[in-house]
Amino acid sequence: MATRATAFRSAWSQFRDLQLESAELDARLILCAAAECSELSFITDPDVELTSPQLKTFETYVMRRCAREPVARLLGEREFWGLPFALGPDTLDPRADTEVLVEAVLEQVGKANGRLNVLDLGTGSGCILIALLRELSHAQGTGVDVSAGALRVAALNAERHGVGDRTNMRPGSWFQALPETSKKQFDVIVSNPPYITIEEMEALAPEVSLFDPPAALVAGVDGLDAYRVIIEGAQDYLSLTGFLAFELGAGQFDAVSALGRAAGLRVLGGRDDLAGHKRVILLGA
Ligand SMILES: C[S@@+](CC[C@H](N)C(=O)[O-])C[C@H]1O[C@@H](n2cnc3c(N)ncnc32)[C@H](O)[C@@H]1O
Repeated sequence: MATRATAFRSAWSQFRDLQLESAELDARLILCAAAECSELSFITDPDVELTSPQLKTFETYVMRRCAREPVARLLGEREFWGLPFALGPDTLDPRADTEVLVEAVLEQVGKANGRLNVLDLGTGSGCILIALLRELSHAQGTGVDVSAGALRVAALNAERHGVGDRTNMRPGSWFQALPETSKKQFDVIVSNPPYITIEEMEALAPEVSLFDPPAALVAGVDGLDAYRVIIEGAQDYLSLTGFLAFELGAGQFDAVSALGRAAGLRVLGGRDDLAGHKRVILLGA
């Protein structure tokens, strides 16, 4: 039999040997999930033995992590904006940097808490839209994704976080997913679209390249394909005072600014992430 402490040490050592960046944290999260205990209980009671089903679960988790599956995927959940989001094989694993996009939208919206109409293009797990609707209690939201599997997870997350009745999930490609009647209706169009180049895809960590869905990552030779389509359609769907907010890949601010200007939009601002990359751009009429 294994105790919590011996199981943890064994996982930590295997992860270290594989040079996983967060070996200690991953081992702790996996141990606590498999042993069904809190981190505090693990610290205070390290000698409790794992039951045999717990040990089996633990060994499966360790094996999957050694095959480079991210901990959030094997536990089926990622925290974003302080909320747990269910993940599925068709959803991107939300990144902490994307919270900068949520912050930028909220700042641009300001104190207005009226009947805002928010569109999230490429909603994935729904994390951006749901975070916004939680903050903007009178807003309505539409989430679009080309992946039906992702939309199912997004709808479950919206229900789970109490915004299901203000959310409409629509399958399809960008604006093609929307009815004619939604033209000029959106006060905010937000998107974290795919923005990785085909070349960059080859250099991604296995945690990303093997487990995030390719449709969530790659956007053509220069990584700008999705921005082009969305910027081109945005004027038709934005309300008179509406704005467009994008997450950007590193180094894409100037190119996306130029695409926006060419389509008659003004750059309203940008935001850096914690690493100092221009991570967000805001565009408006
Ligand atoms: C980078 S992921 C973002 C997911 C989520 N919004 C997030 O921030 O975690 C991009 C999303 O765009 C979706 N997508 C890709 N191409 C699309 C298209 N043509 N139309 C609609 N959604 C698309 C993918 O399925 C994926 O969910």
